[in-house]
Amino acid sequence: MPAPNFTLIAHRGFSSDAPENTYDAFDLAIEHGFNNIETDVQLTSDGTPVLIHDDTLDRTTTGSGPVAKATLGYINSLEAGIWFEGPQDGVGRRGPATYGDSFVPTLEEFLQRYEGNVNLHLELKSTEPELAEKAAALIEEYGWKKPSSPAESGVSISSFHLEQLERSRQVMPHLDHGFLLQQITPEACEAAARIGCTGIYPLAGKVTAEDIALAQRHELWVRTWGVRSEEDLMRAHNAGAAGTTVDWPLRAQKILGS
Ligand code: G3P
Ligand code: CA
Repeated sequence: MPAPNFTLIAHRGFSSDAPENTYDAFDLAIEHGFNNIETDVQLTSDGTPVLIHDDTLDRTTTGSGPVAKATLGYINSLEAGIWFEGPQDGVGRRGPATYGDSFVPTLEEFLQRYEGNVNLHLELKSTEPELAEKAAALIEEYGWKKPSSPAESGVSISSFHLEQLERSRQVMPHLDHGFLLQQITPEACEAAARIGCTGIYPLAGKVTAEDIALAQRHELWVRTWGVRSEEDLMRAHNAGAAGTTVDWPLRAQKILGS
């Protein structure tokens, strides 16, 4: 039986079945009952927070070059779905150019569109010092808050970059922050706790029950990422993690329910 509080977070939206980090992927997650959504934010050259994973445009858009060197105008002119080859979980649309009109959303558009509807797990992907402050201003402007439970709408912050988390904690002290890393260690727990993180997020394929106990001694909750297989999913679940990001939340739900 699945743990009752194991939260499945649609990774970059329902990204096995629609192009990652687009409204198609976010909407598909919500349509299937997954209101916990993870996405990646970084800055354009003119300082707008946009939702894209890679540090270059090449893989997921019709553009090329670093995101940090591209203007918002250029990014807005690109398509962000024609590369997509899915769906893999049986629910996304099929056929050539099915997602030909997908584009890269801005954080602001996302916050407007899904206000009150989504529990957003926002990853500060890049390292620009002003990223956290810009995200904080938008989160404040649109009134997104810490959710009272995973099922409620709201927002939390994560990053692989400790210095980004530290800056983010300063401008958004009221939100939960989680440190993304490969594997939990005593040093990582100490560093995360020192800067005021409430969570630590290891790779699913490496997490252990002992790691989770260690994190809990530092008052850090644990959710995982990087689920590639049923084995990874079960490992995270059985070790006692509170949840995980996953590209195929529907399949994960079926696996956990069986
Ligand atoms: O859930 C965290 C996960 O998104 C981190 O890895 O590379 O998919 O951003 P990545
Ligand atoms: Ca991410």
